[in-house]
Amino acid sequence: MESPSNGRGQWGSRIGFIMAAAGSAIGLGNIWRFPYTTGQNGGGAFVLLYLLCTVFIGLAVMWAELAIGRAAQRSPVGAFKALAPGSAWKLVGYLGIITGIGILSYYGVVAGWTVGYLIYSASGSLDTVIPTIHLTDPAVHMESAHASNFFGAFVANSKLQILFLVVFMGLTMVVVLGGVRKGIERLTKILMPLLLVMLVGLIINGMLQPKAMAGLRFYLWPDFDKVTGMTFVYALGQAFFSLSLGMGAMLTYGSYMRKSDNLATSGIYVVIFDTVIALMAGFMIFPILGGAPTSAGPGLVFVVLTQQFQAMPAGNIVAIIFFSLLAIAALTSTVSLLEVVTSFLVDDLKMKRPGAVLLSGTGIALLGIPSALSLGGVKWLSNLYTLDGKGQGFLDLMNFIFGNVLLAVGALGICLFVVLRWKPKNAIEEIATGAPWFRKLRTVWVVALAVLCPLAVLGLLAYMAITGKALG
Ligand code: TRP
Repeated sequence: MESPSNGRGQWGSRIGFIMAAAGSAIGLGNIWRFPYTTGQNGGGAFVLLYLLCTVFIGLAVMWAELAIGRAAQRSPVGAFKALAPGSAWKLVGYLGIITGIGILSYYGVVAGWTVGYLIYSASGSLDTVIPTIHLTDPAVHMESAHASNFFGAFVANSKLQILFLVVFMGLTMVVVLGGVRKGIERLTKILMPLLLVMLVGLIINGMLQPKAMAGLRFYLWPDFDKVTGMTFVYALGQAFFSLSLGMGAMLTYGSYMRKSDNLATSGIYVVIFDTVIALMAGFMIFPILGGAPTSAGPGLVFVVLTQQFQAMPAGNIVAIIFFSLLAIAALTSTVSLLEVVTSFLVDDLKMKRPGAVLLSGTGIALLGIPSALSLGGVKWLSNLYTLDGKGQGFLDLMNFIFGNVLLAVGALGICLFVVLRWKPKNAIEEIATGAPWFRKLRTVWVVALAVLCPLAVLGLLAYMAITGKALG
């Protein structure tokens, strides 16, 4: 093993990198965001577009990020400074940091739900666990409540939302403080296979439901009548979001790789794992729904699954296991987001690691508060604008701007950087050091970076500008 001459950490093994990168990619994006976005965008056609975006654009950007990171051995801003000194390309890095901060702020809120649901599953009620926070709505007792009333009451409780946001950001900070290898690698290796097993079980449960066939039809049959430009905007955004692309997270993970590592194959594995888990989440949810979700908001997966758990034998045990795994899947994702911001503060602003974690973690938790209050807690934050007749809150807005638009813009910046500044020749050599066969892919890869991705992102921006659908 190469000894890191620059004092930065390195992955203990190739499988260590794959597991950690897959841990970043696999998270609420797959299990929470993918099903509800699919539900809101007409089902099968959206899934097809998402898959096309993943294969033809996502994978190409994945390789680009990993290559930039490993070549520069630095966090995003530093990487662009190192490979293109004195140029404006570092703005792509800064954009990534801002995007990461924006995503983590609301992602932390949803991640907090997983902890809340975990505690509810274990105790049936939060009143007994956290007695100082009184839930005045009688519906918040899980045993006696309909799952959707329960969700509504839970997310509208401002104190609980802030509490769980803070808890989750605290957990994230603890892991990031543990350093790259120790903290991240260990956790993911054990738990990802478990999550897979759990999903298989829940898919079987779904297939046994009465409306399973109708649900599968909605999920898998592309109904192109329902496709609009926005379907594409969401599909591309979902591909980037789910793969943790467009803001330098994968770039940062690549920077911990060794020159001898096979970056090309590792990238493919991460894309496959991530996409399979997202598709599985769909197979878990849509057979139960039997068609388009009636109220397809961000609560979808939480509501549908709690209903299932309530009806199952030993459902609370299943719920405890499921929400623990989901919480940990979310944790490995929040860790990767906070890692980017932290490594920026450490590498570029020369902060000490503990101070950097403390500053970024608390800052982002504070930024998450408006999102935490935007599912009923505070009226105006919960109803900022209307989309397709449904009120959208601050969290929805953050999710659209940071988790869709700015990721796409960041990905465009990364593609253009490779094509125009770093030059594909150098990028290909960087990848080929550990994977000589990659040279054969040069034309396809360059077309994806120079044509497909720019066309897609510029098309998306143009569409939003022209139709005025800027608020998603
Ligand atoms: N991909 C993660 C998920 O699906 C979320 C995530 C982690 C992310 N790091 C990211 C999204 C960086 C965009 C960019 O849950």
